Amino acid sequence: MDGQRYTPGGPAALLIQASERLLSKASQADMPAPDEAAARIIELQEVLRAHNEAYHTHDAPIITDAGYDQLLALLRRWEDAYPTYQHADSPTQRVGSAPLDRFEKVAHPEALLSLSNAFNAEDIHAWYERCLRGLGPEAAPPEISVELKLDGLAVALTYEDGRLVQAATRGDGQVGEGILANARTIRSIPWKLTTESPPRTIEVRGEVYMRKSAFAQMNARLAARGEKTFANPRNGAAGSLRQLDSQITASRPLTFTAYGIGPATPAPASSLPTTQDALLAYLDALGFVPNPHAAVLRTPEEAVAYCTRWIDRRPSLDYEIDGVVLKINAFAARETLGQIAHAPRWAIAYKFPAQEAQTTLLDIGISVGRTGVIKPEAVLAPVSIGGVTVQRATLHNEDYITTRDIRIGDRVTVKRAGDVIPAVIGPVRAARTTPLEPWQMPSECPACGSALHRDAEEADVYCRSSDCPAQFVRQLEHFASRDALDIEGMGSKLAEQLAASGTVRHLGGIFHLSVGDLLALEGFAQKKAENLVAGIAASKVRPPERLLFALGIRHVGKTVAETLIDHFLDIRDLVAASEEAIMAVPGVGPQIASSIVSWYGVAENRRLIDELADLGMTLRREAVVASADQQPLQGETAVLTGTLPTLSRAEAAARIKAAGGTVTGSVSKATTILVAGEKAGSKLTKAAALGIRILDEAALLAWIDSGIRPD
Ligand code: IVH
Repeated sequence: MDGQRYTPGGPAALLIQASERLLSKASQADMPAPDEAAARIIELQEVLRAHNEAYHTHDAPIITDAGYDQLLALLRRWEDAYPTYQHADSPTQRVGSAPLDRFEKVAHPEALLSLSNAFNAEDIHAWYERCLRGLGPEAAPPEISVELKLDGLAVALTYEDGRLVQAATRGDGQVGEGILANARTIRSIPWKLTTESPPRTIEVRGEVYMRKSAFAQMNARLAARGEKTFANPRNGAAGSLRQLDSQITASRPLTFTAYGIGPATPAPASSLPTTQDALLAYLDALGFVPNPHAAVLRTPEEAVAYCTRWIDRRPSLDYEIDGVVLKINAFAARETLGQIAHAPRWAIAYKFPAQEAQTTLLDIGISVGRTGVIKPEAVLAPVSIGGVTVQRATLHNEDYITTRDIRIGDRVTVKRAGDVIPAVIGPVRAARTTPLEPWQMPSECPACGSALHRDAEEADVYCRSSDCPAQFVRQLEHFASRDALDIEGMGSKLAEQLAASGTVRHLGGIFHLSVGDLLALEGFAQKKAENLVAGIAASKVRPPERLLFALGIRHVGKTVAETLIDHFLDIRDLVAASEEAIMAVPGVGPQIASSIVSWYGVAENRRLIDELADLGMTLRREAVVASADQQPLQGETAVLTGTLPTLSRAEAAARIKAAGGTVTGSVSKATTILVAGEKAGSKLTKAAALGIRILDEAALLAWIDSGIRPD
């Protein structure tokens, strides 16, 4: 078989095909017949080597970690049955890939071992039992030290007389790459050990990794500059550390945590720690940052509980972990236990259940949220991730799909983490063997058919129709809410009932509700129905700024609505205005303007405005004639605080403005009146301290109506 066949430079589709075929064997406990063993084992070795190279050398994996582990386990089984083919260069015999030629090769004075894996409680117990047997019947049951297994890359740092003189990646465990210049750029790697009497020589081992938050920022920066982004924090860390130009490494957010030591000569008259917990404390004293979640436990049951707890806590960390490393705590016991091939007997890596899987993207569905937000959603060929079958996953928004170039029919990587909704991470580009159409956001709402809009500075596309069934409950709730039309008794429950029964299908419909309509709904008796109908009728006289707010136009909140009505006076003039005209209003920016214009671009919304006008609602604020005697509050600057007995804040402010006054939000030297209601707080105290005139609602109204300034 030709070794080049599966290399990433060659057709990757072949590698994927072969891997899939082999993975199906892995689950069927398949064993080659003697006459075909050679060919099949060599093929599997080649497949694994190609994956190794893609992962380690190119930082571009084409299989999930779990898939790789399964293939490696299959190869181990086959090689155990046919040991003749277990050559020294088989992927079962080495870890990672050969170092890149371009870096200086550094031979490790003591090999960096890898770890055997445990996947469940049984494996952990079996490992501990083996340790007990290895230590003999006389020995006390050993303590277990547990540490999180950070998902980065292993690095060995050599210090001589306290100074950093060499840094190397693990490479294949025997020979790594010299990355001293790069390591020196990482802030959590001390150049000089922070202790009075440093050891003569010491090799400190640990993991270089990238925090999730730092990774996201770095990728955003790279994307903004049009540079290649990384698939995950591990690849980001590897790609950043293994740079020939250490200035690039310096610009990348890398972190180092220390978990072990290699060869060491202590300073004269001092000694090295003899347990893992003492070692971590020692590393801390030398100036390193060990991971804070390590613990020493007494039994394998406790170790299992620690592992299980971290399955759930894992998403809460700002860095990725792929398991827990369990180590016999005492070094003397480690000495007795020794090692097998390339892994110590005294440690094991518990691997978390897989969180990622690959499957086919069958379709991209579109959902309409209650706010009108349009969300694309992946429809997947069912795939099991960590024991849960996943068929749907989020695709976030339009840009998420287009920047990753995700297409229907693609093979995609899907991630599930804890309780988080599964997400499509991206396509497996190499697996796209036939041409696929790029995806496009639909231009019409799937729930109501009206045109979709994406406003300035928004990532999401919205359906803006006031007539969209998917949004109706929420719109109605908002329409009737306290600061909007303030219809008492019309809360979320009634909105649900009205929508579900089909009694009301659009906002204007509530004004046609009869007592009889309401009596047909659950929980309504005559009196309650009558009260509600009266409440709805009363809401027709709300001032135009409240009606404008009630329409639920995105970015048009209470204050913006007031400002806009102050300026345009009439809702009809506002909604028909151009973006430029709307932006000309002080305090109104492009987001608001674009949102209003796109809202009015929807035919259903234009019809709603006409209907509200026909119903006799107040769409226009009557202009105030600017003559001094009708403007008793001319020159006054008022602040409102507390709850007034009859007027809402907006109504009181409108009255003050109509009388020629100005209303501001906070008390200052410029304030001349404080209108205080019930539960007035610090504004009242401050106004009193400044000697500002304080009025209640009655005094304010008396002033406005009579035109006489109170003393
Ligand atoms: S101890 C012989 N401790 O996991 C002991 N390894 O196969 C070898 N890793 O890539 C390692 N966190 O870099 C150890 N707390 C930890 C670790 C850890 C992550 C990595 C290590 C290597 C792999 C072990």
